[in-house]
Order: sequence, then C-alpha cells, then structure tokens
Amino acid sequence: MHMTRLLDNAAIRADFPVASKMLYLDSAHQTPLGVTAKLAIEDFLAESFEMAGPKPKWLARVEHVRGGLASFIGASPDEIAYTKNTSEGLNIAANAIDFNAGDNVLLIEGDHPNNAYTWLNLRRKGVEVRFVKLSGEVANAQTFAPYVDCKTRAISLSHVTFHAGQRHDIRSIGQLCKKKALYLVVDAMQSVGVLPLDVKDLGISILAAGCHKGLLVPQGLGFLYVNSSLESLEPVYLATAGLANPPADFIARPDDVTLRAGAGRFELGNFNLPGIHALGATLGLLENIGVDNIEAHVLRLGDRLIEHLDDLRIRLVGPRDATERAHIYTMALSPDWLAYFSENNVRVSPERDGIRISFGIFNNETDVDAVADLIRKRL
Ligand SMILES: Cc1ncc(COP(=O)(O)O)c(C=O)c1O
Repeated sequence: MHMTRLLDNAAIRADFPVASKMLYLDSAHQTPLGVTAKLAIEDFLAESFEMAGPKPKWLARVEHVRGGLASFIGASPDEIAYTKNTSEGLNIAANAIDFNAGDNVLLIEGDHPNNAYTWLNLRRKGVEVRFVKLSGEVANAQTFAPYVDCKTRAISLSHVTFHAGQRHDIRSIGQLCKKKALYLVVDAMQSVGVLPLDVKDLGISILAAGCHKGLLVPQGLGFLYVNSSLESLEPVYLATAGLANPPADFIARPDDVTLRAGAGRFELGNFNLPGIHALGATLGLLENIGVDNIEAHVLRLGDRLIEHLDDLRIRLVGPRDATERAHIYTMALSPDWLAYFSENNVRVSPERDGIRISFGIFNNETDVDAVADLIRKRL
C-alpha cells in the first residue's frame, strides 16, 4: 500500500490522538504514544494483573521482537542486544573495544553530546578523541580520511543529526572503515524507523539507538547491534544474562564465566518488558507502512516546508538536498518564537541555530501549511 494513502487515511492519524489536539512537530524529541503502542502495553499490564506474569510467554516475545528488530535493520537476531537507550549502547561498545593508550577515535564536531562523552571518557585509558569539522553539509569518507592515521581505531557519528537534520553518508564512511580496518560506530537514534537502514549494506560495525522516536515506543528501551564478526569484543559488565551456561540453581560458578555467543553477551538482567511488547506492535505498524514510504513521506513534507520557508525568506539551517536530509528541519528563527509556537498549541523544539520542526508518520501536508501560516501571521 502506498504511504500517501496510508497517511491520508484517518486511521493512521487516529493512531496518534495527540495529532488532533495540537500541531505536533517534535518527533525528533519524542514521538507521542500511539494507540498501537498503548494497546500492546495494556495487554502486558492485563497479563501482569490477571495472572501475575506469564514469564515464559513474555520471554518468548522478547526473542520474537529481537528477531523483528534484527530483520528491520538487516541484521540477524544474535547480533542484537536490548539496552535502555542510545548512550548505554554506545558506552557498551566503546568500552568493549580493546583500545591501547595512544589510539584515537574520530568524531564529528558538534555531534550529539551523548556520543562525544562516551568516547571522551576513554581518555582515562589514554585514548585520543579527535573532533573533525564538517566541510560540506554532511560527513562522508572524505571528511574523515585526512584525520585517519595508524593509531585510528574507530569512527563514531550520528546517522541523522538531531540539531540540523543532516543525513551523513554512512555508506562511504563504511567503505573507508573497511579499507582501513576501523570500527564504524553509528548512533541511529534519529534515523531508525524513519530511513531504511541496512547495517550490512552500510558497513556498520556497531549501532546504538533508543526506541522512543522513529520506533514509536515510550522512553527506556534501546538496542545495540554488534556485527557477528566482532565476537572478540568483551563486555565490561557481566550478569547471568551474558553467560553461555547460566547456572540453573542460581549459584554462581567461578570456574565457568564463558560468555554467551552473540550480542546477548552484552545484556544485563531483566528486560524492559512493557517497552518490548510495545515495540513488537509498533514494528508491525512500521513494516505495514514500509520504511521507504516513511522516508519518502517525511521528505515530501520537508520539500513543502522548504518551499514555504523560501517564500517567507526564512533560512533553513540544514541541508536542502533531499539526499542529505530526512525528517528534521531547523528554521533560523530567534528563540522568542518558541513562546509564540507554544501559545498557538504548536510543539517544536529550540535548537542551537534556530527552531526545529521534525516530522512523524502522522504528520501531513495540512500540518506543514498550518505552521507556515502561523509564521506568516507573526512576520
Ligand atoms: C542523535 C541522538 N543520539 C542520542 C540521543 C539521546 O540519547 P539517549 O537515547 O541515550 O537518551 C538523541 C536524542 O534524544 C539523539 O538525537
């Protein structure tokens, strides 16, 4: 089914009741909870309430959703670990890499601070963190190549940036990393569920994301992809969940701490079950719509917004080229606009260079025209 039809369909918009209560243009901050996620969580609550938890059934669902998540990003289930958010995934990855003092890692200047602090913390081990300046609108292999030397071990960056919506050229960076035997670590918080994402095709070694934006579930659930060729990476933390042979009698065996195969070795303790239940349902919704259709939809909304901004003579902070952007558009407006939007029941976010609009699957052309009309009124 084509996205335009689906999105014009009242049913999809009705899945997000907030869309009828306010002009919600802030999915890069948090996607509002939809009926699909809410019903899945309610099912989970009913199960807890009525039978104090069918745990084997829940754990089977955890594995089922792991499989769904894996196929959603072109991975295999044993390459996926559940986490609580992007930062946790990035930290697990950064601390698993066997850095030596004097090694370096390359980041983009101004990228999300959670990605930067993950690596800055490794300075304790003598790792050098090099911040690379963007020369064009987006980063590609040429952006990093001049900074790579024999001590470079990893490149880490966001797929789509939260502040100006740049969509970095991960594929070309993946090719550079393959050639130079570097780890490519990607923060996909903004892109997963919005852009098609195939970790193998893009050459990603490790990917971390949270699930509360494009994946449409409440905060507190994330995931980590670790390529199966990286089995030698060892977790810094260890719990029973990460063991190959967890003791059935719950008495630790000091002589057997063999790690579980696959990314599950990075998992710790019990799972965020309500979040995972919701994710099972929202992955179904996203697959039904098609992520390539979601990409096309948010780009179309972006085209329309850019037309309005040109007409209003407001500068777009990020890229204009459709291949370099996704669902995030920052308008060069001063911070005082925020109160105006708020008074008019419009949810947007302040950003470092202006006011950010970000689209979700429930937004439509009418939303774009409405925000443009509002801006025109004040101008
Ligand atoms: C690119 C990016 N990375 C990370 C985060 C958040 O990190 P975490 O999931 O650890 O809260 C955000 C925003 O919430 C983001 O936009």
